[in-house]
Amino acid sequence: MGELRGTHVPVLLERCLELLAPALTRGDRQTVHVDATLGLGGHAEAVLAANPGTVLIGLDRDTEALAHARARLAPYADRVHLVHAVYDELPEVLDRLGHPLIDGILFDLGVSSLQLDAPDRGFAYAQDAPLDMRMDQTRGVTAEEIVNSYSAGELARVLRVYGEEKFAGRIAGAIVRERERGRLTSSARLAELVRESIPAPARRTGGHPAKRTFQALRIEVNRELAALEAALPAALDALAPGGRMVVLSYQSLEDRLTKQALAARARSTGPLDLPVELPGTGPTLRLLSRGAELASEAEISANPRAASVRLRAAERIEEGSPGRRDAGPGGSSKATRGGTDRERFRRTTVLHQPSTQDATVRPGRRGDTPGTDEGEGT
Ligand SMILES: C[S@@+](CC[C@H](N)C(=O)[O-])C[C@H]1O[C@@H](n2cnc3c(N)ncnc32)[C@H](O)[C@@H]1O
Repeated sequence: MGELRGTHVPVLLERCLELLAPALTRGDRQTVHVDATLGLGGHAEAVLAANPGTVLIGLDRDTEALAHARARLAPYADRVHLVHAVYDELPEVLDRLGHPLIDGILFDLGVSSLQLDAPDRGFAYAQDAPLDMRMDQTRGVTAEEIVNSYSAGELARVLRVYGEEKFAGRIAGAIVRERERGRLTSSARLAELVRESIPAPARRTGGHPAKRTFQALRIEVNRELAALEAALPAALDALAPGGRMVVLSYQSLEDRLTKQALAARARSTGPLDLPVELPGTGPTLRLLSRGAELASEAEISANPRAASVRLRAAERIEEGSPGRRDAGPGGSSKATRGGTDRERFRRTTVLHQPSTQDATVRPGRRGDTPGTDEGEGT
């Protein structure tokens, strides 16, 4: 294990601890918390310190991150299981460890500073490196293989969908022309090609011109959205009643998937005109955040990575818990027929009602804003 490059300051740390605390403190019972994106173990260490009765299962697909986290969490070794896995393998991991039900789970998505700052991993457009971008360097295709083998159409789709890049077609064309002259292998050359493909006026806005292309390739290399789409429902299935999930997203595609996964279980799927819930149709989640929560200006100035974070959180409830049908803000006590989708959502989405012991619901600040603005690679 090499020297740690840079530092990774855990984002929204106090808020994550506050949200997870009620789930991880259950009297005498030992609780189980999963850190699905262990990274350098910043959030995990704080969870272990704050919750002496909690066992931590930490997952990361990056073996280097796991090695650093293992050293950092050594004081808690008797309460820690670290696993090299992609988070969509969570059900098998829990099975293997004999913990089918968990009390807390945190997803802190994206890359860590360890990966971004690595001179040899190719995540950053600001430094020259081989085009790798794999979070798990033991398997999978590299960004180099993708830029040298995908058709112009496939490349443009990746850049448009995962990077929301307006000039996806032009950039894809430039990549294809470049590789006709010779294999494209370096992140600096790719960043230069992107810059040259973008019209001069557009280069002056929206940060570094290569930011969106690098994000898109990284998502494609690591199949990030497919993994997240599979992992969220599996994680929600594994939550014990009263268990809580917190997700920190750094770009709009991840946040949208999270929002959809949580909203789908926080509302009734039963007929609107019935006054009672049919078995199996009631909400199984209570939302703990209204919209997405963002970091404070103070946190952003201390930690620029926090600038693009969006936090969403929810608590698993027993189907049939009080308030299951009409507890949304502005919701009436009885379901009424018809109404717009928005009204239906408001009537049937369960939002956590804060109590004095557990004042965890906060309105989102500047939340729900679209845009992919992961502050990486600079
Ligand atoms: C933002 S960092 C987490 C930082 C951590 N919360 C801390 O405080 O140090 C994200 C980590 O998640 C890992 N990761 C990303 N996608 C993953 C996936 N699908 N499965 C497992 N780990 C993943 C990355 O390798 C990286 O180490």
